[in-house]
Amino acid sequence: MTMQIYLVAGLNGGGGRSLTAALLAYGLHLQDRPTILVRQTYHGLLSTIEPLEATLPVTCCELMLPAPYALPSDLSAGLATMIHSADARFVTALREMAMAEVGKDGHVVVDLCCNERAANAATMRDASMVLIPARASVLEIDWAVRTFARARDVQRYRDIAVPTLIATIVPDSGRTHQIDVLGRMLRDCDPHRELLPGEPREVAIEVPFLDESTLMTLFDERSIWQNPLLSAQCRAFATAAAVRADAFMLMLAEDDGDL
Ligand SMILES: Nc1ncnc2c1ncn2[C@@H]1O[C@H](COP(=O)(O)OP(=O)(O)O)[C@@H](O)[C@H]1O
Ligand SMILES: [Mg+2]
Repeated sequence: MTMQIYLVAGLNGGGGRSLTAALLAYGLHLQDRPTILVRQTYHGLLSTIEPLEATLPVTCCELMLPAPYALPSDLSAGLATMIHSADARFVTALREMAMAEVGKDGHVVVDLCCNERAANAATMRDASMVLIPARASVLEIDWAVRTFARARDVQRYRDIAVPTLIATIVPDSGRTHQIDVLGRMLRDCDPHRELLPGEPREVAIEVPFLDESTLMTLFDERSIWQNPLLSAQCRAFATAAAVRADAFMLMLAEDDGDL
């Protein structure tokens, strides 16, 4: 096995990245895989504390997204974009850190910051999957769809194939509605199925939805992570992510075969 890197990405704050990353990391940890959770920080980040990390029984680290290269002002926009998308400084440092913490067979969950350089081509190229959280409201689903479209666009343009899944965060009662809205929005932004050849449902994966009281205890009670239901949900989430990721690659391969 080789190191597995799971990117949790989103372009909006409060979109569910940190919690999704924590639940996935815990699920992998429960499957007895050496796992670390890495939070990507950036220059100017106001709060450097992630309360979840106080209780989560998984090793948590921080790693800074390097400042963008200072490029000559007369450089063409196309060339500048190419340089920024090939910037592998973060992913190189990530691999080094992960190697020291969990070794070459480790699992690395990365809670990316909401900067457009966070999920650049160089970082995605090394990843086993990209997970994009989508919360319940139409505005948040729209953010998830835009993040998905952007990630898939970069991948297609740079010839990268990485499973890119939408991690849905909604109580059970809202799941059907959310997937309907998500499906419509994905189709609207990709009428020719260039970004998503298959059905929207195939890229959606359900994140365990936590009620208010569980959310409260996650912040200050270490014992909550021993709760059998939460443990089972996190383990199932990690398994489902792997299954969906395989199906995603199959979907792309079938689409290639159709051309
Ligand atoms: N799995 C979940 N179940 C219930 N609520 C969630 C879940 N994930 C996120 N949330 C809600 O979304 C809020 C923001 O989540 P967070 O992970 O901090 O977002 P981000 O890291 O993208 O800023 C949380 O405080 C919580 O209210
Ligand atoms: Mg966060």
